[in-house]
Amino acid sequence: MFKINENYLKLPGSYLFSTIAKKVNAYTAAHPEESIIRLGIGDVTQPLAPAVITALHNAVDEMAKKETFRGYAPDLGYAFLRQAIADNDYKARGCDIAIDEIFVSDGAKSDSGNIGDIFSEHNRIAVCDPVYPVYVDTNAMAGRTGDYLPEEERWSNVIYMPCTAETNFAPELPKEEPDIIYLCFPNNPTGSAINKAELQRWVDYALKIGAVIIYDAAYEAYISEDDVPHTIYECEGAKACAIELRSFSKNAGFTGTRLGFAVVPKELKCGEVSLNSLWARRHGTKFNGAPYIIQRAGEAVYSEEGKRQTAQQVAYYMNNARTIREGLTALGYTVSGGVNAPYIWLKTPGNMTSWEFFDYLLEKIHVVGTPGSGFGPSGEGYFRLTAFGTYENTLAALERFKQL
Ligand SMILES: Cc1ncc(COP(=O)(O)O)c(C=O)c1O
Repeated sequence: MFKINENYLKLPGSYLFSTIAKKVNAYTAAHPEESIIRLGIGDVTQPLAPAVITALHNAVDEMAKKETFRGYAPDLGYAFLRQAIADNDYKARGCDIAIDEIFVSDGAKSDSGNIGDIFSEHNRIAVCDPVYPVYVDTNAMAGRTGDYLPEEERWSNVIYMPCTAETNFAPELPKEEPDIIYLCFPNNPTGSAINKAELQRWVDYALKIGAVIIYDAAYEAYISEDDVPHTIYECEGAKACAIELRSFSKNAGFTGTRLGFAVVPKELKCGEVSLNSLWARRHGTKFNGAPYIIQRAGEAVYSEEGKRQTAQQVAYYMNNARTIREGLTALGYTVSGGVNAPYIWLKTPGNMTSWEFFDYLLEKIHVVGTPGSGFGPSGEGYFRLTAFGTYENTLAALERFKQL
């Protein structure tokens, strides 16, 4: 008789966004006349940049000819893309990352889940609270989180690092010692960022205790302040303790096109074993590469035109962020984020719980956001709005907030 991975049975409820979708669907079924404005899920709304579209068309044409057709991609990804990444994302920022330390993937969600494959189940993880749920759920699937304690909305064997207004929505070094530390800056969901000196503290701490940092920099393109690091490798010693995850979803609108990469430096070792070779083995065995046409599209993001056009998209979303942040502040809400990230994190008014506020907004003004408690217990009493809507919808949502 076969046996299932029973860790899956420990996972609580449904994924946050399915619950939201169910509530919104039920509301629309009951009120088909109401127009809903969705500022919930972190999906982009602008079309792909012209430079990316041209590269896609050209690559499709190449696939149509015998001379230029491509089959399986190289294990780590095409060198043309990895070189563009190494030059633009790292060398240009003074970081020396070799192209065989870059592993092209189909996105940061897969990488943040899959990276656990190279770590023993006996590692203890530390996560921010609130947190992007994928880190915790994938560790739960791997049997690394202990049991779920529904009363506390926590896992018994996870170290939670509260990110609250008191800590400026950044984690403090944990009291208990973790083996794997998940950090995400600029942060989803709180929209917070930390400066280089603060990130250096984490790197120094990880080196001191022998932990590895999984650094999710999916929102790097949204950084607007000078002292916020764009990559963890700007910090001294990070190559010996950190894996960085990046995505083309938010900087270039690839949420439906799918492309990302992981950086696993060769200096990062467990004893004599290099994590780079473990990840190369895992990648080569379980993944057959992002499609050629998509990797060409990714390369185009780094062309002069591509950089200019995608920067315009980021600026468009950040204008939305500013509009929401300033608009809600003027209405008396307590708001943070939206400066180095496309997320606005607002305190729910009148001591409403996150889900009460969700229902209230859906009912009263038909605006959908994300309840902060869905990201962890310290998110209770908070609510996330995204800047990824259209400008028109963002303005319309603000007008509706004024009616409350
Ligand atoms: C923190 C964080 N990491 C990763 C991802 C997923 O990125 P991708 O689309 O590359 O899978 C998201 C998506 O919302 C995210 O918020």
